[in-house]
Amino acid sequence: MEKRETILIIDFGAQYNQLIARRVRESQVYSMVVAHDVSVERIRDIAPKGIILSGGPSDVRAEDAPQCDPAIFTLGIPVLGICYGAQLMTHLLGGEVAPAPKPEYGKQTMTVLDDSPLLHNVDKSSVIWMSHTIYIKRPADGFIVSAETPTCPVTVCEDRERSLYAVQFHPEVVHTTYGTEILQNFVYSICHCSGNWSMSGFMERQIEAIRAEVGDKRVICALSGGVDSSVAAALVYRAIGQNLTCIFVDHGLLRKNEGDMVESIFKDKFKMRFIRVNCEDRYLKKLAGVTDPETKRKIIGHEFIDVFTETAKELPDVSYLLQGTIYPDVIESGTGKNAAVIKSHHNVGGLPDHVPFKLLEPLRDLFKDEVRALGEVLGLDHELVWRQPFPGPGLAIRVLGEVTKEKLDILREADFVFRDEIAKAGLDSEIWQYFAVLPGTRSVGVMGDERTYDYTIGLRAVTSVDGMTADWARIPFDVMESISTRIVNEVSHVNRIVYDVTAKPPSTIEWE
Ligand code: XMP
Repeated sequence: MEKRETILIIDFGAQYNQLIARRVRESQVYSMVVAHDVSVERIRDIAPKGIILSGGPSDVRAEDAPQCDPAIFTLGIPVLGICYGAQLMTHLLGGEVAPAPKPEYGKQTMTVLDDSPLLHNVDKSSVIWMSHTIYIKRPADGFIVSAETPTCPVTVCEDRERSLYAVQFHPEVVHTTYGTEILQNFVYSICHCSGNWSMSGFMERQIEAIRAEVGDKRVICALSGGVDSSVAAALVYRAIGQNLTCIFVDHGLLRKNEGDMVESIFKDKFKMRFIRVNCEDRYLKKLAGVTDPETKRKIIGHEFIDVFTETAKELPDVSYLLQGTIYPDVIESGTGKNAAVIKSHHNVGGLPDHVPFKLLEPLRDLFKDEVRALGEVLGLDHELVWRQPFPGPGLAIRVLGEVTKEKLDILREADFVFRDEIAKAGLDSEIWQYFAVLPGTRSVGVMGDERTYDYTIGLRAVTSVDGMTADWARIPFDVMESISTRIVNEVSHVNRIVYDVTAKPPSTIEWE
């Protein structure tokens, strides 16, 4: 099989490093991100067709600024430095980097000065996106300047002989008009990639690799019905068929019809070995009287591990555990991140570090959008592949305070109506995540001639790229009206609907 071409991205702590990797992959070339201290030996092993040095927040002249081995520039592999990466290349090769007389943020106009292979098909004057306070004052020996802005005389410089290119702006962000062309020029014209990264190719390769690794051994999978575990299961099933067993722990905290949908797809349609463990009662007992969100998460996480391991023990001769780990979970970061723990998050499917099985993680190299594309290639239902994010602890963190069966059922119905109306209004692909919550407070209402004293339902709908920040979705008022009317009419014990109009930050997406 044809060797997978790779563009290596060396990370210097940029916000945008994953974006660079995704842009390269959108050009049908595989890319991987490594930390800045990657050794030259490892690079030789990976044998990339090209290297991209990412941006980063540091000043290359500072003592503790992240560096890379200068031998990278002598490997005969084309290198593209972006922002910090451009400055570092210049600094390490003997050019001069200095504070810019006028820092540039946002859109600027670049003028192309020279017929550069990197800037092929880029208009003489075009919009680029900048974010820098330091700039290249004098390029290193052997470099020529091929583009400028009125305030940044070295916007692009290059040494074609050595195939080294430095750009001060960010071609990976959409605001750079010719960003895609510039990255493609690098990848295709300069690195001579052929563009052999595709989901069907990946699928074929992975199926072969899984068969070679697993042979006739048995694999189990904790299937949650989420995109990652579903796609992982469908892929491994293609490779080894009935030697895969999926365990679906139904904790009773799923949305309306969700458990049945998962069962019908995997058991009835795909004909996989599929074990559904219904343990609503067990979870409800454990959660009785618990009101603290973090305690709920912990209980649900521990319970999951117990149910899963109890079920797995019943199965003979299991050697592998399949996990739907994806690339953003494993990506090497150029800088340490010390984020405060706001929510202890993460998947209820998170199994302990030490399990008596070998791990099989066939999606480790994929970004989320690629996992979805692979799901489509594997023939998984559109509904499942494009499912909105759903937290592992499920509705337990959307019933605020104590979780009871009565509250869960009310919430499930209200949430169902909300989702149905959003879909009918054609808004489901625009809104990143939308769901109902039950705050648990009751208020007075009037229905017919009767006074009611019933629950309030909160509606949350957000737009977001990755869930790290979010804005509340501007749902049209007439859609809001149908949602509100239907919920109050169709769901018993609900007499008031409120809409959450806070962004993240300062709020979070989930209410708990
Ligand atoms: P927050 O509420 O932190 O949510 O703004 C960001 C994203 O993470 C999801 N989320 C969770 N996912 N286990 C999960 O698997 C959790 O405990 C959890 N809490 C929040 C949330 O739905 C949103 O997509």
